[in-house]
Formats: sequence, C-alpha cells, structure tokens
Amino acid sequence: MSSTDAATFWDGVYAARPAATDPRPNVRLTEAVTDLPPGEALDIGCGDGGDALWLARQGWRVTAVDISAVAVERLAGLARSHGLAERIDAQRLGRFPKGRFDLVSAHYLPPAPGRATVLRAAAHALRPGGLLLVVDHGSTAPWSWNQDPDVRYPSPTEVAEGLDLDPARWTVERADAPRRVATGPGGHTAEVTDHVLLIRRTRRTRRRDTPPPRTGNSELETLRGFLDYLRTSIAAKVDGAPEPAVRTAGVPSGTNLLGLLNHLTFVERSTFLGGKVTNWQATFHAAPDDSVADVVERYRTTVERANEVLDNCTDPGAPVPERPGPSVRWALTHMIEETGRHAGHADILRELIDGATGR
Ligand SMILES: C[S@@+](CC[C@H](N)C(=O)[O-])C[C@H]1O[C@@H](n2cnc3c(N)ncnc32)[C@H](O)[C@@H]1O
Repeated sequence: MSSTDAATFWDGVYAARPAATDPRPNVRLTEAVTDLPPGEALDIGCGDGGDALWLARQGWRVTAVDISAVAVERLAGLARSHGLAERIDAQRLGRFPKGRFDLVSAHYLPPAPGRATVLRAAAHALRPGGLLLVVDHGSTAPWSWNQDPDVRYPSPTEVAEGLDLDPARWTVERADAPRRVATGPGGHTAEVTDHVLLIRRTRRTRRRDTPPPRTGNSELETLRGFLDYLRTSIAAKVDGAPEPAVRTAGVPSGTNLLGLLNHLTFVERSTFLGGKVTNWQATFHAAPDDSVADVVERYRTTVERANEVLDNCTDPGAPVPERPGPSVRWALTHMIEETGRHAGHADILRELIDGATGR
C-alpha cells in the first residue's frame, strides 16, 4: 500500500467511527513508563491518542504523529478539551519529526515498506538512556479487520534485527510475547498476544581522558608528539558518531562533526603534502556518499603520509619539503593550533549528538 493509500485507508477507518472522548492508553505503554521521570515523548501512529493523553497527564511533553489527518485533528481537539494542548503537539507524519526524545513509542504501527526506516530513525532520535517501545500484534483478534489466516507476525527479535542497530549503542531490554485479555469494539473479549520490543539507547559512559603525551625532549619530538595526540583525539571523537547527526549542523553557523574532520584532512594535505585547495569553505562538508568510516579512514591515512614526510625533516627551521615556504616549525605549530581548535569544537558537537565525552 502506498503512503497515500494508507492515509486514505486510515482516514476512512477513523471517519467511520465516532470520535473517542477519552481513549485509554495501551497497557504495554503504562507498564513500561509508569516509573520513568517525565521527559519528551514521540508517539508514532498515535491513532485515537489514548497513549499521548495518558503520557501528557503524567507530565510528558508529547509529539504525536499519524498518517491519518482525521486522527491527528481529533487528537488535537481532545488535547484542547482535556486542557493538555500545551503538552501535546499532534502532527500529520510527513518528514520524521525534529528533536530528541526520552521515549518513542509505536503501538500497532502497520507493517509497510518504510516502517523499519521510521523505527530506525526513532532509535537514533533517542537521547542517551532513552527508550524505544515497539508493540505489535502477535495474534489475530476475532474483531480484527484483517482475518487472513496466513498472516505472519514477525517476532520482536526479528523486528529488532530489521532495525540493524549497533549493539554497543542500543540494548534490547525486552523482546517477548505476553498475552492479555482485550475488549473489541462490540464489547466482547478475547485473549490476544502482543509482541513487545523495548530498546534502550546506551548511556554514554565518559571515555577516559588520555593524558598529554610523553614526548622526547627535542623541539620536533615535542611538537610532533602533541600534534599526534590531538589528531588521535579528534579521529576517535568522530569515529562511530551516529548518522545523520554526524553531518547535521550542530550550531547555527553550520559547523558539523564530520565536516570538521573532512576539513582537517585537507589542511593536513595542504600543510605537509603540497595539496591545493580552492574552496576551503566547501571542505567543511563531507561528500554525501562518504560514510563516517570513509572520512575517518581518509584522515588517518593522510596523517600517516604527513608523518612519513615529517620523518625526513630534521631541521625545524627548514621549509616543509612538499611545500616550500613555511618552516617545519611553523607548519607543525599551525597544525597543532588548527587541530586543537577543531578538536574542541568536535568535543562539544559529539556531546550534543549522543552525550559522549572524554578526550
Ligand atoms: C492499529 S492503529 C494503532 C493506533 C494507536 N497506536 C493505538 O495503539 O491505539 C495504527 C495507526 O497507525 C497509523 N499509521 C499507519 N501507517 C502509518 C505510517 N506510515 N506513519 C504513521 N502512522 C501510520 C494509522 O493511521 C493508525 O492510526
């Protein structure tokens, strides 16, 4: 089903029944959230809005999105009539909502081609320590609109695998299939199975600070030792940073984490390897096709080549062989200043992205 067809379908579902006046929350939400301190939540496929209203009553600020304009309008009206409009932002889902969340929940979001992409974006939008709760049907209720006997319900573990999340940064805390007694639209009850997946974004522990290097005593050994220290630090800071935040501007001026390392690669080339750059501003953005690993690898390789050149420099006052003009002393001092300045930027940007700290 295309997204336009899905929107028409769900608009029809909601328009065909009277608007709920006080929809109830899902039990899988209340059991997972009751003990959490309120923060910012995103409810994907909010439907009637029982979950969003319950969260708002617990003190959460909720962004509630749905493909159905009818559902979204009804929830916005309910939020107003329950005095919760300040806490609920009901939106028709277009682009994935901006912001960072302490909780993202998706209850009974239908299987569709883009679903895993949306849930993966949701996992990335979590703050460190935040929770992604995905609840799916694990059985067919007698009143379900879809009575296809061949329908297959992916297990929570299969859903988790489909998200392809780095286990070092997200932990599956729950993946099971509890049963409950559910009440259908006609008031009759039946036992149904839920597929529950609860994933937590790992809280970043502070990376241990690396102390300043013990260098040799000569001028060149001291300068090179401190430069390598800063180079290692900024490469580690960018390595493994999550997409898309790694290339998204972290401050209004446009500075982004991946762009900083891309830029430093060009500065290394220009300073030690004779590389020419015509547009320095453009170097602050990595090419869209370059992964984080590509950019980090290219930086480290460039540094190795620069060090090979420096290995042959014994006189700090002599010009850099590949770039006649500035002395080796000037080039190293400049590179320390440049790398140190951007390593500081990188520290702040990375902490803003996922809370990772340490040098
Ligand atoms: C079975 S209902 C569940 C509603 C609500 N979460 C609940 O538990 O009561 C599925 C909801 O997902 C919405 N939906 C379907 N496809 C969607 C999509 N691609 N993005 C956002 N919402 C979608 C539908 O409009 C509908 O409101």
